[in-house]
Amino acid sequence: MFSTEFSQLVVKLNQPFTDQKPGTSGLRKSTLKFEEPNYLESFIESIFRALPGVQGGVLIVGGDGRYGNKRAIDIIIRMAAAHGIQKVITTVDGILSTPAASNLIRKNKAIGGIILSASHNPGGLEGDFGVKLNGSNGGPASESLTDEIYSYSKNLKEYKIIKCQSNNIYSAGQYKLASMIVDIVDGIEDYLDLMQTIFDFDLISSYIKNDFPIVFDALNAVTGPYAKRLFVDHLGSTSETVRNAIPLEDFGGLHPDPNLTYAKDLADLLLKGNLYSFGAACDGDGDRNMILGRGCFVNPSDSLAILAANYDCVPGYSKGLSGVARSMPTSSAVDVVAKHLGINCFETPTGWKFFGNLLDANKITLCGEESFGTGSDHVREKDGLWAVLFWLQILATKKKSVSEILRNHWLVFGRHYYSRHDYESIPAEVANSLYSRLFNMLPSLKGQTFGGRSIQNADDFSYTDPIDGSITLKQGLRILLDDGSRALVRLSGTGTKGATLRVYFEKFVKSNGDITQDPQLALKPLIKDIDYLAEISKRTRMSTPSVIT
Ligand code: G1P
Ligand code: ZN
Repeated sequence: MFSTEFSQLVVKLNQPFTDQKPGTSGLRKSTLKFEEPNYLESFIESIFRALPGVQGGVLIVGGDGRYGNKRAIDIIIRMAAAHGIQKVITTVDGILSTPAASNLIRKNKAIGGIILSASHNPGGLEGDFGVKLNGSNGGPASESLTDEIYSYSKNLKEYKIIKCQSNNIYSAGQYKLASMIVDIVDGIEDYLDLMQTIFDFDLISSYIKNDFPIVFDALNAVTGPYAKRLFVDHLGSTSETVRNAIPLEDFGGLHPDPNLTYAKDLADLLLKGNLYSFGAACDGDGDRNMILGRGCFVNPSDSLAILAANYDCVPGYSKGLSGVARSMPTSSAVDVVAKHLGINCFETPTGWKFFGNLLDANKITLCGEESFGTGSDHVREKDGLWAVLFWLQILATKKKSVSEILRNHWLVFGRHYYSRHDYESIPAEVANSLYSRLFNMLPSLKGQTFGGRSIQNADDFSYTDPIDGSITLKQGLRILLDDGSRALVRLSGTGTKGATLRVYFEKFVKSNGDITQDPQLALKPLIKDIDYLAEISKRTRMSTPSVIT
């Protein structure tokens, strides 16, 4: 794979690198930005300077297959060799989902992993690319590590790389580059081995082969090869089960975000057709999931609550749950289940890294976000296919349809009507002024009428980590009503074009109330009043959100 002739280069930089946002575990920019000379190299050099254990350490590298994936792996391998890494483990064709990377880091006791992905953002020359660093626990790099990377990057004057011929072919085997080993592994089987320690594959297999047709949409992204191996080879489903199964550099023009807007073809199959009893999709790098049943969509907040309520269907969790956690904007459906189970429920800021400390300290077993992310202590990332298997295990055990499981859940625990409205690609100054105006209004809102109720409190969410005591401020504006209903406003931290405003709505109805309404109708008074208060449509000049979940 690499020529035996090589030389060590030190490349001088003309300008420092200032693009990484402090406090984020990676770098996400347009694909074209990453093509600029020395751009990727500067960030990787900063990582190698800050990451503990580089000398003699093992590093995991791989990505979601988007344009730039192989070039980046090649550069990282050559820079790793120049920095004294002992072994890089990557995968056939460089295809590695985020949860599978987390598993490989933990399994191989690696110092960390570099995942090449811009998650659910479109790929290709007109799309985005990203580099994400995970630490030795398998989860997104800690804030102290990313701050260190940031301070190295600002003063960077040069980077080290090995110059050699390489052919960009990634087939399984062990190779050598200078004194470093490059181990190219299958990657998929490691992940499926882990899944088999958690779920009962025989039970799921016999259920889906016996008149319970399922369909999975990989959206031309990383989960295709995993899903084929899982559903077709291991579980015996038909080969048509997996749609858009081959990872493409531009995802075939799809936006690999599994929601009702961007995975519309799949949603139509389930919501309008009757061919399938179950449908699911994952995002670009395989950490998000969307679950559908015949004629029904499972809101991710409900999904988390249902997984928690039915943990005992899954052999891997038969010992019980130590606790659960959800991000602040996620609905409180899981809180009610936690109370019923007599376990703790933690409310964290948005983003997976906050769950990591709780998982490492064994305070929680399951966690999730409203943004289609669910996971457990089996890795330190959210895990799309794991969530799909969890659902299939529940369905195979209960022998009920998805809509029956949902309805029964609401009948026992009540229903948390929930919706998120996204206003995408709005000018940053519009978003910032809307946000700061609402922030300034917060102190005066208490006691006012909103959505037909009284505002009990209005604040900007902050979080004190129960494990290390660190404090995270400014995590989203909350309008909390006297009946537990909420309206929340946040600015996205993951978009690359302009700003994205996210508005979240939640309203609880007891099990003996009306649990059959359309969420947009049930939440209408809240939706109307936040638009009036924050002047959303007036200021964004958008009469409807870009995405409604
Ligand atoms: C979004 C989601 C958030 C998730 C993150 C990474 O972040 O809302 O829950 O953790 O992507 O997948 P946001 O764009 O809202 O900052
Ligand atoms: Zn993702």
